[in-house]
Amino acid sequence: MAGKVVLVVGGGGREHALCMELKDSSHVGELHCAPGNAGTSFLATNHPITAADVDGLLNLANRVGADLVVAGPEAPLCAALADRLEAIGIPCFGPVAKLANLEGSKLHAKQVMRAANVPTAAFHVLSEGSDIEAALDDFAGNPWVVKRDVLAGGKGVVVTQDRNEARSFIQTSIQTDGQVLLEDFLPGEEASMLVIMDGSGFVCLPASQDHKRAYDGDEGPNTGGMGAYCPAPVVTDAVRQKAIDTIIEPMHEYLLAAETPYRGVLYVGLMIPESGEPNVVEFNVRFGDPECQITLPLLKTDVFEILEAASKDRLAELDVEFHDFFTATVVLAAEGYPASPVKGRLIHGVGQETIQSGDSTAWVNHAGTGFDVQGNLISTGGRGLSCSASGPTLAASVKLAYELIENIELEGSHYRKDIAFRAL
Ligand code: AMP
Ligand code: GLY
Repeated sequence: MAGKVVLVVGGGGREHALCMELKDSSHVGELHCAPGNAGTSFLATNHPITAADVDGLLNLANRVGADLVVAGPEAPLCAALADRLEAIGIPCFGPVAKLANLEGSKLHAKQVMRAANVPTAAFHVLSEGSDIEAALDDFAGNPWVVKRDVLAGGKGVVVTQDRNEARSFIQTSIQTDGQVLLEDFLPGEEASMLVIMDGSGFVCLPASQDHKRAYDGDEGPNTGGMGAYCPAPVVTDAVRQKAIDTIIEPMHEYLLAAETPYRGVLYVGLMIPESGEPNVVEFNVRFGDPECQITLPLLKTDVFEILEAASKDRLAELDVEFHDFFTATVVLAAEGYPASPVKGRLIHGVGQETIQSGDSTAWVNHAGTGFDVQGNLISTGGRGLSCSASGPTLAASVKLAYELIENIELEGSHYRKDIAFRAL
């Protein structure tokens, strides 16, 4: 049987990680990526079509004869990429638009959780004419959590102890979006659970923890994620089982009732209080970035087999196996990230090969990288790349990821020095 043709949509560290796994699969004969980055160009044929260009992606999938399309980011899914691929008979890993709305609208996600009886923070929906002061009073005593109901690339949430700041963000959001959510504050530690699901079942991948703030000690502005590690010990077996019983099974059940089953990965953002009873902070309809980079390598089962099965409601036929090592990744961010990253600078010290050190292995995941006209590696985005490693202990993987990043040069760049501090 000829090798399968796979198209990966997106161009970040997550998509480089997906391409690395798919390239390794004995089933995959041809790998394409749109738009990809410098890293994916060594593994796949890159095509200059952005993830937002759904028409372009459909044309490309047809032209290359894709057997499977793997959607990295949420935007094309919210814009009906999976629906339109289904209409032309091409399987897609990633849900149809109606289900992608779990990420597209935070209010919709809250309503679904309410309907499915899934634990999440209490909330008010505020719009023109709402009694904002009464709502603020309702959740007083803790920081206020205000969430815009739009895809805002991580910039739509304000958590503040300052009532004036909360009120003013509520008012401006109502003006621009028509409505806004005010949520009860949940104390605890955050973790990410990636759950692959389809109409036949679901598979929970080992839970990870991301570091969303730009600077050490979880200080500074929110980012897309500055580093992550897996498995995260805060998700004990008991917490994991609670999450399955109270969140994942009810969500899977709820989504089964949809016209088209959820075929893809549901990213469950958890808040774990001291009691160990997890709550949902957010859903995403895609792999996390950088969580993907450190979660996929823990799969012993061929990743193509898993993604393809989930795109065809055959997940329940697979017996998915995991490695028992640990992984960590540290993101190298451009000067000025996240506010205004400087792009176009040369990057030195990045190799293609994986590096072996005792029982540990390290590799670079490219994110915002490309080539200049001379073919030199340059940065093209805020998060340039992430240095990843696996090892027999979390400490070993973290140590090797740092050894790797210390040898990479990008003028003005910064990275966090404390990835995995909560677990170490
Ligand atoms: P979200 O985009 O919904 O994930 O929110 C961004 C970040 O805000 C989360 O990663 C949390 O750190 C924080 N956050 C969101 N909702 C809450 C909440 N109800 N209680 C405490 N922190 C929250
Ligand atoms: N790292 C967080 C996210 O992908 O949403």
